[in-house]
Amino acid sequence: MSDLSTAIGPLRLKNPVMAASSEATMTEEGILACLDAGAGAVVAKSVNESPAAARQLLIADYALLAPGGDRVGWPDRCGDETLLCRSGLAARDGWLAMLERTSRHARALGAHVIGSITVAEPGPAAEIAREMAGVVPAVEMNVGAPHGREASAVRQVTGAEVVEHYTRTVRAAIDVPLIVKLPAQTDSPLELAAAARRAGADVVAMIGRFNGFWPDPLTSEPVLGSWGAVGGPGMLPVSLYWVSKTFAADRSVPLIGTNGARSGADVARFLLSGARAVELASAVLLRGPGVLAECVEDLADTLTAGGYERAADAVGVAVDRSRSYAEIPPREQPARPWEA
Ligand SMILES: Cc1cc2nc3c(=O)[nH]c(=O)nc-3n(C[C@H](O)[C@H](O)[C@H](O)COP(=O)(O)O)c2cc1C
Repeated sequence: MSDLSTAIGPLRLKNPVMAASSEATMTEEGILACLDAGAGAVVAKSVNESPAAARQLLIADYALLAPGGDRVGWPDRCGDETLLCRSGLAARDGWLAMLERTSRHARALGAHVIGSITVAEPGPAAEIAREMAGVVPAVEMNVGAPHGREASAVRQVTGAEVVEHYTRTVRAAIDVPLIVKLPAQTDSPLELAAAARRAGADVVAMIGRFNGFWPDPLTSEPVLGSWGAVGGPGMLPVSLYWVSKTFAADRSVPLIGTNGARSGADVARFLLSGARAVELASAVLLRGPGVLAECVEDLADTLTAGGYERAADAVGVAVDRSRSYAEIPPREQPARPWEA
């Protein structure tokens, strides 16, 4: 059995499997279930200062798309579907007390509950972070929510200077570790990661989901009746690309991978790409919190089969083995595998 312990900056985790912020972590029961399933950490559903962000949850909707593209009902899901959704944020009434209770439960299990803010404005984000820092051991600030392109209650920040400003403002308000969660919908996620670090982020989480649109070819109606945010197994290589490039650019940045992991093997893929922990949301929504226990077990088996005694030893190994295009020796003839 591999030693699964890891660290994201100053925060030690018993294993790298984290429940990401989502509707699965929006209630006390949901957070406790993820903790009891054995997650190393659980990121609570995000809040922010805008009542409109919480109201937006009333227009939230969630569509599953099978690999062929057809929409499938939730009772018929197999767990591998792409998830297209609209989402809002949690209401803040009683939120801190709930974070404090679940955080106590987490401590008893050697795990952590992390408070989360999906930003609107930087000042209020700092104030909410300061309150959270009194009851949880770390705060995650999401500056990349795709819904920010569709509604003003949350913001999607895509410029390095603005990421720096948000990070600096929130950093100054708290003395617990700060995780900054970034979008990939920007010219350079690498620059955003560097900006977040410059401004004092202890940890960078990447990459956020993308915006999506999916018309039904028989009815001509857009699924969900609107644009939305999308994620699924097909996003994993894209997420691994940005994590591995960020790792290659600066190995000192503690990275959390997110977007596309559905299994322990996928968590291992994130570690090999340079992440030190992995946040899963869709898998928990589709399969329930028990998927986190499966991931932990599957990760241990996968690492052992891959020859690793410690999860930490796997971090970034595939990046070290990856070559630039210029380093690939040319063949005598171009490859044409589709003719075989
Ligand atoms: C329904 C839903 C709600 C989400 N809500 C939040 C949120 O409130 N705050 C946040 O930072 N990320 C949120 N996310 C993003 C997830 O935390 C996660 O980073 C993303 O879904 C990619 O991981 P996955 O492929 O495991 O789903 C949400 C994702 C989904 C699907």
